[in-house]
Amino acid sequence: MALRALLLTSAAVLLILIHRMSAADPSSCRAVWLFKMACSQPRAAVVEQVKAWSSRQCYDSEGEECSYQIVTEAPGYVEIKHTNLSSQKSTALNFTFKPPDVPSFCSMRGLSTTAPPGGSSPYCVLHNLVNGSGLTQEAGFREICNAAMCPSMDVTACGAA
Ligand SMILES: *[C@@H]1O[C@H](CO)[C@@H](O)[C@H](O)[C@H]1NC(C)=O
Ligand SMILES: *[C@@H]1O[C@H](CO)[C@@H](O)[C@H](O)[C@H]1NC(C)=O
Ligand SMILES: *[C@@H]1O[C@H](CO)[C@@H](O)[C@H](O)[C@H]1NC(C)=O
Repeated sequence: MALRALLLTSAAVLLILIHRMSAADPSSCRAVWLFKMACSQPRAAVVEQVKAWSSRQCYDSEGEECSYQIVTEAPGYVEIKHTNLSSQKSTALNFTFKPPDVPSFCSMRGLSTTAPPGGSSPYCVLHNLVNGSGLTQEAGFREICNAAMCPSMDVTACGAA
């Protein structure tokens, strides 16, 4: 009985989450990445990649793998800013890492919002960073994202041309 109630509650919570996610507008994107490792590792990889790309100059042909900047850093949270050098439009993005102290599981949630019109794809701004930091190759890597969560989701538009 208790289990059934729990399952029903979980299903209801999931439905509410999916509904909320589908309300996303084209200028924003949210995605979740899962890993079989402590959150300290993906967090360090993201921060290191942002720093590596902070001083690089690049343009559209290079898939914008540059011009990222750390805004705020906290143990379970990193806030970043990306600027599209062609349009000078910026994208605000952040990552939340949970749970803090589990050795073999991490859920990393990413959110991004681009100032429209003429800005970068909010999905690509997240994707390029996750891919560029090598996290897509890590143990247990899974990306949870769809067109409802990210209307701008289109990997072919993200890569270096
Ligand atoms: C994280 O980024 C999203 C999208 O840009 C923004 O809506 C949200 O307020 C940010 N979160 C925090 C805590 O700043
Ligand atoms: C950067 O902005 C330009 C001009 O608005 C746009 O055409 C281009 O697609 C953007 N770059 C990316 C990778 O989104
Ligand atoms: C991911 O990064 C690798 C290596 O930096 C690059 O060769 C590849 O094109 C990228 N893939 C996507 C889908 O962005």
